[in-house]
Amino acid sequence: MSAPNKSYDPVEVEALKPENIERMRDEALAAFAAADSLEALQEAKTAHAGGTSPLALANREIGALPPQAKAEAGKRVGQARGAVNKALAARQAELEAERDARVLVEESVDVTLPHDRVPAGARHPLTTMMERVADVFVSMGYEIAEGPEVEAEWFNFDALNFGPDHPARQMQDTFFVNGPESAKGESGVVLRTHTSPVQARALLDREPPVYVVCPGRVYRTDELDATHTPVFHQIELLAVDEGLTMADLKGTLDHMVRALFGADMKTRLRPNFFPFTEPSAEMDMLCYVCKGESIGNPDRPCRTCSSEGWIELGGCGMVNPRVLTACGVDPEKYSGFAFGFGIERMLMFRHNVEDMRDMVEGDVRFTRPFGMEI
Ligand code: FA5
Repeated sequence: MSAPNKSYDPVEVEALKPENIERMRDEALAAFAAADSLEALQEAKTAHAGGTSPLALANREIGALPPQAKAEAGKRVGQARGAVNKALAARQAELEAERDARVLVEESVDVTLPHDRVPAGARHPLTTMMERVADVFVSMGYEIAEGPEVEAEWFNFDALNFGPDHPARQMQDTFFVNGPESAKGESGVVLRTHTSPVQARALLDREPPVYVVCPGRVYRTDELDATHTPVFHQIELLAVDEGLTMADLKGTLDHMVRALFGADMKTRLRPNFFPFTEPSAEMDMLCYVCKGESIGNPDRPCRTCSSEGWIELGGCGMVNPRVLTACGVDPEKYSGFAFGFGIERMLMFRHNVEDMRDMVEGDVRFTRPFGMEI
């Protein structure tokens, strides 16, 4: 083992010269002061207070010094490193305090802001109206039946006893997707003009007794105006069973208007013609506003029914035996009744909507008063 180097001069060790230690300390302090973020301070810390920083490297040189020089250099380096660590901790605390203050401002929640300004969506009043009507029948045991909107001409017309020359088959009444002539003798294809083809589909799909309610969208070549739209909705009812009569039809209609409009409501039937019902009738319901009191009573005019006392609902009748036969049902054994009406018209008089166009334009100012029923 060699003897301690008594003649060793620490001044000769470049890194331990006092001016160098001071410079290292000052550079460290300047770097910490210049760090404007915690990330920048971390970089300055690695450079000036880390294991490979100039001061740490200088500290390693001390071990080889003779005792006297070791004490001096150790004191000098220790003081410098102490000052560096103190400055680092102070700057760290400063920057953390700045960050916390900033986060408090940036991430603060204003609890006084309104929380319910995101409008909730809701189904269209036509949809809810249609479901409300369907529910009346579902609660009586009827089943929901559906059919396609692009329908075979056979289901839309032939199965329902429309003659080949019936005006409804004209292009000016019906949207044809494929005319019969282009279908080489097969049935043409139309946008269904009513929900009645679902009657034929339901009878072909099921064995009697059949009790179905068929809500759906239908199409006619009508111009869009205050009381017509080319795309509208109907709801259809069909009951086929043994021994059904007009009395069952009337009772069912009365039940429906009572369920929808109130216990004192009733319906009346007026003779009409539909190819698929025989006899056929137009069905009216008592005006639910004036309850008929406006009839002949100028002191009590009624806007809802134009003082007629009754509101026209739609068509109905006993299912024509020809329809039963076309759908494979024995008309000797079974009879049935059916009715159908427009949902847009019902929404109009039930809610005093004056213009049907409001229902199709998609303006939420129209739908909002109906509430957010989902
Ligand atoms: C029919 O469509 C028959 N299928 C109804 C029926 C069913 C009769 C079962 C017998 C047995 P009608 O063409 O009258 O009938 O139309 C029924 C209802 O649809 C009308 O009362 C009306 O409320 C509505 N409607 C008709 N055309 C339009 C239209 N362009 N816009 C809005 N609603 C309409």
